[in-house]
Amino acid sequence: MRGRQATPTAAGAGRWRGATAWWWLAAVVLGHLLTCARAGLLETNPGLAYNFYAKTCPNAESIVRSVTRQMVAGNAALPARLLRLHFHDCFVNGCDASILLDVANSEKTAGPNLSVGGYEVIDAIKTQLEQTCPGVVSCADIVALAARDAVSVQFPSSLWQVETGRRDGSVSLASNTGALPSPSAGFAGLLQSFSNRGLNLTDLVALSGAHTIGVASCSSVTSRLYNGNATALDPLLDSAYAQTLMSTCPNPSTSKAGTTVNLDGTTPAKFDSTYYTNVQRKQGTLASDAALMSNAQAAQMVADLANPIKFYAAFSMSMKKMGRIDVLTGTKGQIRKQCRQVGS
Ligand code: HEM
Ligand SMILES: *[C@@H]1O[C@H](CO)[C@@H](O)[C@H](O)[C@H]1NC(C)=O
Ligand SMILES: *[C@@H]1O[C@H](CO)[C@@H](O)[C@H](O)[C@H]1NC(C)=O
Ligand SMILES: *[C@@H]1O[C@H](CO)[C@@H](O)[C@H](O)[C@H]1NC(C)=O
Repeated sequence: MRGRQATPTAAGAGRWRGATAWWWLAAVVLGHLLTCARAGLLETNPGLAYNFYAKTCPNAESIVRSVTRQMVAGNAALPARLLRLHFHDCFVNGCDASILLDVANSEKTAGPNLSVGGYEVIDAIKTQLEQTCPGVVSCADIVALAARDAVSVQFPSSLWQVETGRRDGSVSLASNTGALPSPSAGFAGLLQSFSNRGLNLTDLVALSGAHTIGVASCSSVTSRLYNGNATALDPLLDSAYAQTLMSTCPNPSTSKAGTTVNLDGTTPAKFDSTYYTNVQRKQGTLASDAALMSNAQAAQMVADLANPIKFYAAFSMSMKKMGRIDVLTGTKGQIRKQCRQVGS
């Protein structure tokens, strides 16, 4: 941290006398400290650490990994579900496992919950951890670690690093889910909801790459396909790809509930950078994917991240930022014994 030169020269020192000089010096020093503090807020860790449980529960991370791997081996839909679970947890009231709580009017009961899943994986991990180190590992950390481990089964090692030390919150309100970006949002709306959470354009483009795996319900895409009648295709949607989507989701009213389309129509199960190639070809599945191309700076980033090395690096960096949103650390919050219930 480098401040402006604050020391008066020897020649001028004589004039720096009395109260004025002291106030001036105090102001400069204070200003400098404030600048450092502000930069510190942006850069320093909010109380998280890698391997936070090294001493208190040395096997915590390997338990999370082995239970996650076991369950993913039996259900290929889980990596996408767990990744989305972590995103929804962090965006709504911070990464505090509030999304897991079963209480009246909880986050789970809100509209965007429909395809959120993976809760059973978190429960299974928590059960194991409570047997090994009771009351030590937070549900919020389990969510963050399980998302990473589930996606990483496709790779020789973890695709990104996860800081731990989060504690669990006790408030879960459906009314807070308005913090989630809407699938029909335009570019400005998407950027606004990310910046409301302290994330920027780089994070928006990198984290949208999560849509390289997983599925969307027909109801999340039909407005792009029909919009009242069959000739009202979203102009940002490639017409051949639209036909593919229409064949699965024939009509807003006749699509069977629960029918889904792949978010990455090219390599739906691979956590790769083809999402960005798709988006460049107007083959992003959601309107929010297509919206990235409507801003020149975002479109340039989409082009850059089509390179897998750049995508993995950018995704790791932004996941770390996402994992820090409004975390409870130190003596704040609690460690739940059951992830679905406060104080238990
Ligand atoms: C940029 C704003 C975003 C919007 C508007 C958005 C919206 C959506 C929507 C509408 C779905 C499909 C839900 C359904 O129809 O059932 C979905 C699925 C998904 N989203 Fe996002 N999302 C965004 C960002 C993210 C981020 C940041 C992540 C994770 C880091 C993420 C991960 C996922 C995953 C993995 C799925 C598939 C879930 C599954 O297959 O079960 N999304 N998203
Ligand atoms: C999801 O929200 C809807 C209301 O939008 C509700 O009917 C449904 O029961 C919720 N699902 C879960 C699993 O809570
Ligand atoms: C977003 O923030 C990261 C640091 O967290 C920074 O490296 C990047 O340049 C920022 N992106 C934009 C577009 O400002
Ligand atoms: C279909 O929708 C488009 C765009 O909304 C509109 O221009 C057109 O007139 C509509 N056609 C019919 C037959 O309603």
